[in-house]
Amino acid sequence: MAELFDQLEFVEDPLYETIINDLLQQHYSVIDNFFSEEEIVLLRASLLDKYHEDCFKRAAIGNKFDEQILDQIRGDFVFWIDEGSTSKAAQLFFKKINAMVSYLNKTCFLGIFHKEFHYAVYPKGTFYKRHLDTFQNDDRRKLSLVCYLNDSNWKSENGGELVIYPNDVTAEPIVIHPLPGRVVIFESQILEHEVKRVLATERYSITGWLKTR
Ligand code: OGA
Ligand code: MN
Repeated sequence: MAELFDQLEFVEDPLYETIINDLLQQHYSVIDNFFSEEEIVLLRASLLDKYHEDCFKRAAIGNKFDEQILDQIRGDFVFWIDEGSTSKAAQLFFKKINAMVSYLNKTCFLGIFHKEFHYAVYPKGTFYKRHLDTFQNDDRRKLSLVCYLNDSNWKSENGGELVIYPNDVTAEPIVIHPLPGRVVIFESQILEHEVKRVLATERYSITGWLKTR
């Protein structure tokens, strides 16, 4: 009987299985409609509230750099999201993330024990030069996760593409448009990537890291 219960407890999830297979094969996965349109509206409204309350700070790059040098590397503004927050947006976001993390930990023994996420705004004209996410001197970062919160009429002319560089230098870079509801997951210690210059309007996202102990 106990055995039967053990088997019943685990239900294979096709979406998470796709993510796992993608990560194994190419170190990244792009999932469209990870969040529904209504969820994106809620998350974007929450981001904009915080942004207009002046809660955001210039994103740093680990060491102390002066502003001019920073401008040449990255131009985004960030606000760290507290998982304990009672905001509906934060609760909805972490519920989905936690469900995925618990599946990954069960099936892949990934050992994700920590996570950190921030809202990010890239004003028009800003970008983030090619980098590896572990250069913030944190080798506990296993998986990077970006969730786009842009308006549903986001146009490719707006720029702001995420470009992922496969380790195989003969392979073409992967260009990903920041479409609302889309989530990109990639291995933080393996894949270099950049955010192309945002050419029009503002670019909204949640970015974060799933970390080992
Ligand atoms: C980052 C990053 C990618 C994106 O914040 O480290 O690479 O598409 N973001 O916003
Ligand atoms: Mn990055």
